[in-house]
Amino acid sequence: MPTNEKNHIETDNSPRRGRRVLFVCLGNICRSPAAEGVMRALIDQNGESALWEIDSAGTGGWHVGQLPDQRMRLHARRRGLELTHHCRQVREADFSRFDWIVGMDSQNIADLRALAPTPADERKILPMGRFLDPQTGYDHVPDPYYEGSEGFELVLDLLRDGCARLRRFIETKASTAAAEGCDAR
Ligand code: 4NP
Repeated sequence: MPTNEKNHIETDNSPRRGRRVLFVCLGNICRSPAAEGVMRALIDQNGESALWEIDSAGTGGWHVGQLPDQRMRLHARRRGLELTHHCRQVREADFSRFDWIVGMDSQNIADLRALAPTPADERKILPMGRFLDPQTGYDHVPDPYYEGSEGFELVLDLLRDGCARLRRFIETKASTAAAEGCDAR
């Protein structure tokens, strides 16, 4: 981690610039680690892992240090995804470290906005709902914690399309910014 985090993105010429993504939900044991796993698999399949940094965190701190919920891990494993993230809470410094911070629902977005240190940091916040297939009828990724299996399947279905769209959005922004020598947002 650079000593001057505030200037990290601006002074950084790493190939990952513009492609550092943090997924955020409430508990960081269901939706955001699933999003991290889905996105990581997409990036790996495209042979682009050297170009991306992907992580997840929760607005709440109840499960810090834990692996994802075992139901989420089971449903993800059935799709070939191993979720190995250890839960952590989102912090102010994440706004310096990441280019994009993607919230799963409107409460996550409100909590992230309250945490963002500057207006420029606030512009890094993206609602995952913006990238979901409109045909699903969902404008957010619903919390599966108190749901049955279908809730976990729904999360993975929504994220499959959503992460593909998000990847294209970020790639376009990062490539354009690199060509113009400016910031991605
Ligand atoms: P997540 O789901 O935000 O998708 O990780 C939840 C996990 C745990 C809790 C709430 C939501 N909880 O209240 O402990």
